[in-house]
This record gives sequence, structure tokens and C-alpha cells, in this order.
Amino acid sequence: MIKQLIVWLGIAVAVSGCTDSSALRALTGKPQINSRTGLIERNFDKEQIKRGEAVYTANCVGCHGVAGAGTPDWRKPNADGKYPPPPLDSTAHAWHHSTAVLKKTILKGTPPEIGSMPAWEGKLTEQQVDDVIVWIKSLWSDEIYDTWYKNFESKS
Ligand code: HEC
Repeated sequence: MIKQLIVWLGIAVAVSGCTDSSALRALTGKPQINSRTGLIERNFDKEQIKRGEAVYTANCVGCHGVAGAGTPDWRKPNADGKYPPPPLDSTAHAWHHSTAVLKKTILKGTPPEIGSMPAWEGKLTEQQVDDVIVWIKSLWSDEIYDTWYKNFESKS
């Protein structure tokens, strides 16, 4: 059975012509663990991170700040009752959301009566949204990424 699986994986990789670990993960459904730290590895595509950073710099940095650092007083509502843009790095709670929820937040924004996050649907392509999400995840520490995966992503 195991042998069959290995053969099957080998064929799948050969057919797809792709040997990167994210392809293997897609096939096995298992995240990769770093043998030294014991934490789940990201294995992001560096080019995708770069594209995501460009999307962020062009569209998001004005509100969410350099390196996703947000507004210093992001926990305090403004006079209109809405909250200022929060950090997207490890220090706030962007990492309390699965990829699907992050994507929905970015595409749909927050309803204007509740918050001031704009909707990006129709302004950014889905690929650009996926890229910026990867860039956001690249800001998180290894420990936060591991916790995010175990507590939010894998349960979504
Ligand atoms: C006009 C300012 C503004 C811009 C531009 C903006 N955001 Fe936001 N964003 C906000 C605000 C304000 C919130 C908090 C929303 C709320 O309180 O409902 C938010 C929330 C978020 C959240 C949820 C964070 C959490 O902790 O739940 C994500 C993710 C996010 N923004 C990503 C982005 C990305 C990616 C872009 C660029 C494509 C972007 N934002 C552009 C103002 C902005």
C-alpha cells in the first residue's frame, strides 16, 4: 500500500513536471514540518511574495503601514466609532483568520457602516489577492505561522 502510494506520488510529480514541496503537500494533504524547529514550514514561492509586496505597496500601505505595522492605536475606535487599520503582521489578529476568510475580507471589505476597509473585488485580480495574502503571511513569525496553521487554517 505504502509502496503503491510512493509510486503513485512519483508518477504524479513526474507528470506534473513539478517537484516543489507545495505540489507534494497538495497531493498528500500534509503540511511539511521543519525537522530542526518542529514548526510547520511555509515554503512560499519567493516570486509570489515579491508580487504580493508590490500589490501591497500600490494599494494597502497608505492605510496598513510599512511592513503591515498598522496604526499605533489600532485598538481604539475613531470618533465615528470605526476602527483604524490594524497591523497585518504578527502583532494583531490578521493571523486569527483562515486563508478563505482573509480572501473574503480583502475582496468584500467591511460594510461602510461598520468599518473602512475597502472592497477590492473588481479592482484587484484574484491572483493579486492571493499574492498579497502570501506576502502578509510572510510577515508572520515562524511560531505564529505554525499556530495559525494548526488553530485556524486546518480547521477552516
Ligand atoms: C482606506 C484604508 C484601507 C486600505 C487602503 C486597505 N485597508 Fe485593510 N483594513 C482597513 C481597516 C479600517 C480595517 C479594519 C476593518 C474593520 O474594523 O472592520 C482593515 C482590515 C483589513 C484586514 C483584516 C484584518 C484583521 O485583523 O482581521 C485585512 C486582511 C486587510 N485589511 C487587508 C488589506 C489589504 C490586503 C489591502 C490592500 C489590497 C487593504 N487592506 C487596504 C483599512 C484599509
